[in-house]
Amino acid sequence: MDGPSRRKMLITGGALGAFGALGMAAPAHARPLWTWAPSGSVAGAGAGADPEWVWDEEVDRLVAAVIDRGDVPRVNAELRKWTRNDQPLPPGLPADVRDFMERARQLPSWADRSKLETAARFNGTRGLYLNLLNGVGGGMLSTAIPREARAVYYSKGGADMEDRVAKTSLLGFAVGGLNAYRPDGKVVVEAVKTRMVHAAVRHLLPKSPGWSRTGGGQTIPISQADMLVTWHSLPTYTMRKLLEWNVPMSPADSEGYLHLWQVTAHMLGILDEYIPATWDAADSQYGQVLEPILATTPEGVELTDILLGQLAEQTSPGGIDRPLVNALARYLVGDHVADLDRIPREPFWERAIATAWPKLVAYREKLIPLPLVPPLAWTIDEAARQYILFYLTKGRGTHIEIPDTNRPD
Ligand code: HEM
Repeated sequence: MDGPSRRKMLITGGALGAFGALGMAAPAHARPLWTWAPSGSVAGAGAGADPEWVWDEEVDRLVAAVIDRGDVPRVNAELRKWTRNDQPLPPGLPADVRDFMERARQLPSWADRSKLETAARFNGTRGLYLNLLNGVGGGMLSTAIPREARAVYYSKGGADMEDRVAKTSLLGFAVGGLNAYRPDGKVVVEAVKTRMVHAAVRHLLPKSPGWSRTGGGQTIPISQADMLVTWHSLPTYTMRKLLEWNVPMSPADSEGYLHLWQVTAHMLGILDEYIPATWDAADSQYGQVLEPILATTPEGVELTDILLGQLAEQTSPGGIDRPLVNALARYLVGDHVADLDRIPREPFWERAIATAWPKLVAYREKLIPLPLVPPLAWTIDEAARQYILFYLTKGRGTHIEIPDTNRPD
């Protein structure tokens, strides 16, 4: 398998120095000792085991067996029929898969419906920021997370990033939906499917020569520690940005948004003893698991370039807005992450965004309390979401499905 193209690395990294820097930055950073106390988790207690060495045992065994016995096409065909939180599981699923999914679809006992409803209302008016931060910002962080960048690059979806982004958006948009955890919503469906996809990746990637060559010694991908890293690149990073942008928020909104993502973490298979109970606990975990591991990888640089190219295409066919998109991405994640991702500098657009964005946020926030503005804001944001999915799938739609191969060699 060809690694990411050296030409692209030189272009995006800029001249000779970049290759040296990439080469040096690529090996895995030393991971700090796990000292985060389970008393700060939603479980309130736990063994305190280092999540670096914990995966998702039951579903990992199950999905490995499904792949090995050649059942993936049958399971995927059935999974396509399951689209709503309240829908019974398709009867054609193999018994062992159905049995697992029946248990995995149950919300945790600590899920609080009223907090989830508060979060849905918050999503309704702040969809613009949340989509940008979770989608573009989270995307740019994910490519600076070496293990995630490599897992995505060498897995099946790495060969078709438009489809891959569309599939990931299915979960993101479900979480951001007004009916996220209601009976007609979709988060339970997309999260349980994603949990099974991750189990498949754990079985398949160790067979990828590209992944094994660059994995920094990890033998099974997507540990609980890795899951936490990615989780923080979504709600914790997003909340930090909302506060930085002075988006007005009641304590109930802030708590509701955290709760939405706590429940989603559980549904994705993160153990309760690792899920932070409060924003303070989340911040301390963020500092411990995410910040120290951010680094440049050739795979991450190439994926960044593809993702930003797609975004430029979506906003203006022909891609003429690429400098603007580069500057927006840099604004969202800051210089450190943007430099790790080798996002080119765009002085004109960077200045323009730094001046315009706070004004846009302030203006929008003044409008939010007006009658009819929240439903209008939601309608516009929803149209943008539908457009993104339509564009990425070329109108064909897509589904989260269990892969049975890695990226082709
Ligand atoms: C698949 C979300 C953590 C690597 C997916 C999918 C979603 C998703 C929605 C299904 C879309 C698809 O099949 O392409 C999440 C969320 C995470 C998380 C919300 C944490 C909160 C991780 C981590 C890694 C990872 C930590 C690796 C270190 C992958 C890979 C695929 C995948 C390789 C499958 C790609 C393929 O074969 O097509 N993830 N993920 N994910 N995820 Fe994650």
